Amino acid sequence: MNKENLSKREIEGNLLSPLPVILVGAQVNGKPNYLVIGYSCPFDFGRYIFFSLSKSRYTTLGIHENMTFSVNIPSEDLVKETDICGSKSGRDIDKGALFSNFYGELKTAPMIRECPVNIECEVHEILDYERNEGIIGKVVKSYVNHHYTFEEEDTVKLDWRKIHPIIWATGGDFNYYSLGERLKTEDL
Ligand SMILES: Cc1cc2nc3c(=O)[nH]c(=O)nc-3n(C[C@H](O)[C@H](O)[C@H](O)COP(=O)(O)O)c2cc1C
Repeated sequence: MNKENLSKREIEGNLLSPLPVILVGAQVNGKPNYLVIGYSCPFDFGRYIFFSLSKSRYTTLGIHENMTFSVNIPSEDLVKETDICGSKSGRDIDKGALFSNFYGELKTAPMIRECPVNIECEVHEILDYERNEGIIGKVVKSYVNHHYTFEEEDTVKLDWRKIHPIIWATGGDFNYYSLGERLKTEDL
């Protein structure tokens, strides 16, 4: 590589990116509500999920009331509905009506049938920051639409290339992108 290409320039913001867009679901005032979260992260080898939730969000009420939530991964064909969930509040519109909702083991964590991947979580801890809360959820169960799965050595696996998750990227135009090609082949 040309040495000039190794020179660095300072840039503002958190660049731990791109990340998949998720729709976090909660039961608020007895109805399903979903919002877009860009700042999320799995940890403890996937046993927990962390995300950053502004205290002003309507969703916050449901998470505090039930201490449960869901994580739904939309595919590209849901970009319009995703945009609505990220720009309109459940205080003003019924976002549960955009989707077919279902419930799993927890009963109070609404999930979206149209999203290929759904994860139900129990709130484990809430970190109190000035304007935001850090929500840490313990993963209880995960679900995938049959269509995106295959079986290998008696284990159900999913094929991300079929799912087409929406990728959100910071540092540039803060827009949505597609997941790229698989890099590692059998030969590498
Ligand atoms: C790409 C994108 C990423 C977002 N990330 C977050 C986030 O990490 N945390 C958060 O609290 N809101 C985030 N939002 C904003 C909420 O999704 C938005 O304010 C939503 O309308 C709140 O809905 P509610 O009031 O029904 O909870 C994001 C929005 C977009 C479009």
